Amino acid sequence: MDAPIGVFDSGVGGLTVVKEIMRQLPGENLVYFGDTARVPYGSKSKITVCKYSRQIVRFLQTKNVKAVVAACNTASALALDEIRDEIDIPVLGVVEPGAVMAAETTRTKNIGIIGTESTIKSGIYNKFLHRIDPDITVVSKACPLFVPLVEEGLWEDRVTEDIVGRYLHELKEYDIDALILGCTHYPLLRRIIGQEMGENVKLVNPAYETAKSLKTLLTEKDLLNTTGIDEKEPSYDYFVSDGVEKFISFADDVLSCHVEKAEIIDIESF
Ligand code: DGL
Repeated sequence: MDAPIGVFDSGVGGLTVVKEIMRQLPGENLVYFGDTARVPYGSKSKITVCKYSRQIVRFLQTKNVKAVVAACNTASALALDEIRDEIDIPVLGVVEPGAVMAAETTRTKNIGIIGTESTIKSGIYNKFLHRIDPDITVVSKACPLFVPLVEEGLWEDRVTEDIVGRYLHELKEYDIDALILGCTHYPLLRRIIGQEMGENVKLVNPAYETAKSLKTLLTEKDLLNTTGIDEKEPSYDYFVSDGVEKFISFADDVLSCHVEKAEIIDIESF
């Protein structure tokens, strides 16, 4: 089935998931929406994140998507059930796949989680991890300044090194051997986070497991695109709610393919 997969985030963070979907599902067409006018989601209430997510899903439906990926931990934590109520196509979040991957990664059963204030406050990672293994110990830390730093493009900046050090310092007091990057923006700070935590702590990026789960889901539902890439190149369409040029320049840095254009959508009208 050649209908596209809809992927969304509050901004550029979801592109880290798109990159992995492109790698694992190279034949699929994608429609991406980044809510660049309303980022960050991580400090907003459940009511607001649900409202934004519903509007985005309604927009994605106008593109006839066959499945939706909430490539945003905050939306996955606060709005997944609401999104599922809105549509009758498969919807996948990033939290459950991230928890599965972390549980497979840890040896000490001590796992750290970093994410937005809303994701950490929701306790959703703890819930999934304890469902997988009740013996897992979880230490979590909200890092509210990471998203603005990423959206400002300060991925390799001294300021970012300082802030990362301040937030992650206390996590080093625990014997964690896996740290979940529980916000899709954070893989863009991977080098600095890795440097701060040291080589004994594995950084878990839920994007890999999310793309894998998506492939399983599409296979089970018989929704995989069977048109070969040799017959037809997949189409990738990008939409944002503001700041097209900035988005394109970031998207070019995150993805392995060149992004030629992105279109502005009045998302409030959906
Ligand atoms: N990238 C999103 C997440 O994974 C949202 C970050 C934000 O907008 O605060 O949580």
